[in-house]
Amino acid sequence: MSFPWANEYKPQHPLMQWVDERLPLPRFVYNAIGGGYPVPRNLNYWWNFGVLSGVALVIQIVTGIILAMHYYASVGGAFESVEHIMRDVNGGWFLRYAHMNGASFFFIVVYLHIFRGLYYGSYKAPREMVWLLGVVIFLLMMATAFMGYVLPWGQMSFWGAQVITSFFSAIPVVGEPLRQWLLGGFAPDQAALNRFFSLHYLLPFVIAAVIILHVWALHIPGSSNPTGVSVKSEQDTVPFHPYYTAKDGFGLGLFLILFVILTFFAPNLLGHPDNYIPANPLSTPAHIVPEWYFWPFYA
Ligand code: HEM
Repeated sequence: MSFPWANEYKPQHPLMQWVDERLPLPRFVYNAIGGGYPVPRNLNYWWNFGVLSGVALVIQIVTGIILAMHYYASVGGAFESVEHIMRDVNGGWFLRYAHMNGASFFFIVVYLHIFRGLYYGSYKAPREMVWLLGVVIFLLMMATAFMGYVLPWGQMSFWGAQVITSFFSAIPVVGEPLRQWLLGGFAPDQAALNRFFSLHYLLPFVIAAVIILHVWALHIPGSSNPTGVSVKSEQDTVPFHPYYTAKDGFGLGLFLILFVILTFFAPNLLGHPDNYIPANPLSTPAHIVPEWYFWPFYA
């Protein structure tokens, strides 16, 4: 509870009372994202992007786990396994496009979230720890996205791995050994692909853990607000639920509309032609695949 006037949890339903007495999880949720968490009443839509970043991570984890069931981390078979996902796996084209565009949307909402923090000074006392944990999340996100980009083992994947790992060789003295250690060889090859797949699977869960710390650190002082003046009394706040569950729900609706428009109608718009694997037109429902579906690659 971040403010002394926060509502206290009083379970109404006997089942909730029973659970709460034995494991206070309902109380925890109520105090974190329910009626027991007071939030400044004047937050604008810039405060939606934290929750949207969390939703984007969930989309990535869910689609990624299913993709991993069909992906094969071998230099001889990775590209083919992605072709197989696009053409043979039921709904595989959708899973891959959702994961690809989900990654782009993840970065877009996180950039907007960071911009909000810079513009409104959310990084300042007493929220420095929230910001620092955000920086850790962002570094982990970049590492995860880079390793994911390598997995299809297309031309852009290979040269991406070559260029990005070469940055490390710019470090004096230890640079080149460090690059070889990261790759597990002199150039991107099977050892690199294997470890990138392993870490690409692991890091999103590390990110999820750091997000828990990020939100925990935020809930100590509570959210800031667009005026920059701290809330003083109950009159300045409203309970998170239903006010901000509704406001976040509205933002989520808009986010999902944009996300499905891109995923269904221009899924390769943000991609790169050298890594392009066409879906099997027979496995994609014809009514949602108009002729201009592949326009980014005709242009
Ligand atoms: C996966 C990535 C992230 C998730 C899921 C996430 C989640 C959240 C959530 C749910 C909130 C509260 C709602 C809001 O203010 O929007 C929040 C607040 C905040 N986040 Fe993040 N965040 C992420 C990344 C970052 C990054 C990269 C930074 C900065 C480097 C950052 C800095 C902050 C700050 C300073 C606040 C406090 C805002 C305020 O009260 O004014 N976050 N975050």
